[in-house]
Amino acid sequence: MKKKEIKHQMIRQLSKDEKIPYDLLLFADETVEAIDKYIFDSDIYVLEQENKIIAVYVLQSINRNEIEIKNIAVVTDYQGQGVGKLLLKDAIYKAKEKGFKTIIIGTGDASIKQLYLYQKEGFEVFDIKKNFFLDNYLEPIYENGIQLKHMIMLKKELK
Ligand code: ACO
Repeated sequence: MKKKEIKHQMIRQLSKDEKIPYDLLLFADETVEAIDKYIFDSDIYVLEQENKIIAVYVLQSINRNEIEIKNIAVVTDYQGQGVGKLLLKDAIYKAKEKGFKTIIIGTGDASIKQLYLYQKEGFEVFDIKKNFFLDNYLEPIYENGIQLKHMIMLKKELK
């Protein structure tokens, strides 16, 4: 599928009675249990191609001013074609539209591509949750050949 055929207008909010796309959410999170900690209290946005969900992001408000992207994922076949960037821009737009002042996202300390993408879209590191991946998961998680230890928290002010 060519990049230019995917537009942000194709992103829609999943209604509460639709099936939660766990298969895709599991690209960004290790377990269903971890996803279930935020998913029922969040808004899910999806991008479809030929009636199949190919990308997803999840927004959860923290308080009146802050909202967090809890999960963002693109199916393997569509990765590296700008879809992730499109989702991120859409999340920023929606957060602003809803009146939030700050948007937050967290990722692993070895998640190089994600750290690159988020910072390129204007997010800045503001906190590190030390040993997050060691304390919260039973099995070690590796990315880019490095074991994830800490969660890097990034934020973007919405002006
Ligand atoms: N290494 C470094 N940079 C890369 C790579 C790579 N392997 N692949 C793409 N990029 C760059 C692109 O060049 C682009 O930058 P550019 O505009 O300067 O060229 C940028 O990363 C974004 O590329 P996209 O094509 O928009 O990203 P993609 O559609 O692949 O989506 C995502 C990114 C969501 C991280 C996707 O790869 C994915 O689903 N990964 C698995 C799940 C995951 O890790 N999700 C995030 C976890 S954190 C969280 O959910 C809060």
